[in-house]
Amino acid sequence: MSKLQGKLALVTGASSGIGEAIARSLSAEGARVVLAARRGEKLQKLASELPHSEVIELDVRDAQATLTRLAGHAFDIVVPNAGLARGLDPVHKGTPDDWSEMIDTNIKGVLHVLRAVTPGMIERKRGDIVLIGSVAGRQAYPGGNVYCATKAAVRSLYESLRYDLHDTGIRVSTVDPGMVRTPFSDVRFKGDAERAAKVYAGVDYLHAEDIADIVSFIVTRPARVNIGEVVVWSKDQASAMVVARRT
Ligand SMILES: NC(=O)c1ccc[n+]([C@@H]2O[C@H](COP(=O)([O-])OP(=O)(O)OC[C@H]3O[C@@H](n4cnc5c(N)ncnc54)[C@H](OP(=O)(O)O)[C@@H]3O)[C@@H](O)[C@H]2O)c1
Repeated sequence: MSKLQGKLALVTGASSGIGEAIARSLSAEGARVVLAARRGEKLQKLASELPHSEVIELDVRDAQATLTRLAGHAFDIVVPNAGLARGLDPVHKGTPDDWSEMIDTNIKGVLHVLRAVTPGMIERKRGDIVLIGSVAGRQAYPGGNVYCATKAAVRSLYESLRYDLHDTGIRVSTVDPGMVRTPFSDVRFKGDAERAAKVYAGVDYLHAEDIADIVSFIVTRPARVNIGEVVVWSKDQASAMVVARRT
């Protein structure tokens, strides 16, 4: 039997990469999935493949829109995955607009989603929240400054949420991936495909589906089991910057 039959899941950042893979995986387990991101066309295309899914066009930086558009849904599973990196410059050469975009999306965006969905979950006394952090939140790397700081904030938020919600029946987890091949680096380097490709050159990097498998595993454990933190490396990656390349 499908393990998530009858469950309603929300995945933000479902228009690409890890979020898309998570949406597919939860749907394959029988969940109805609400697909949220800014690019509606991509979401519609995915929705056409996933039975009983719904599209919500949403910029998670917009607190009011996030509250309004997510209202009225009784989510069982919430994966606030939407996030991005911009640039790899040291702070003294950094771009404040890029910093704002990362902070507003990766920290405040996650908070906006949580503010919208947690009251209902508390009322229903159950639910799963799976944050998508990063190994970048556990160890900084050269030029990672603000992105690393936002993911460290996600990790801290994970710890806080465990206190906020420990007596509510809601399970809280964080999955912290290493290097996953997605459009992430194209976004970081603002469309410089050559520079993005170099990040993954010669590496047996993780696939988005590897992270999605883990999210599905977490939310299909018996109700008493709360897998807390999962750090996922490619076997070629010793740390954020030490990577074996076979070229
Ligand atoms: N790839 C990696 O190596 C890696 C490693 C560790 C952690 N992560 C984390 O994994 C998550 C997903 O990244 P990815 O690798 O899958 O990158 P991706 O393919 O670029 O996907 C990012 C997703 O976030 C959405 N998004 C960005 N800003 C948004 C906003 N303001 N409002 C709503 N949605 C927004 C994008 O959708 P729209 O553009 O359509 O809005 C897209 O669906 C991020 O939190 C990232 O930090 C990635």
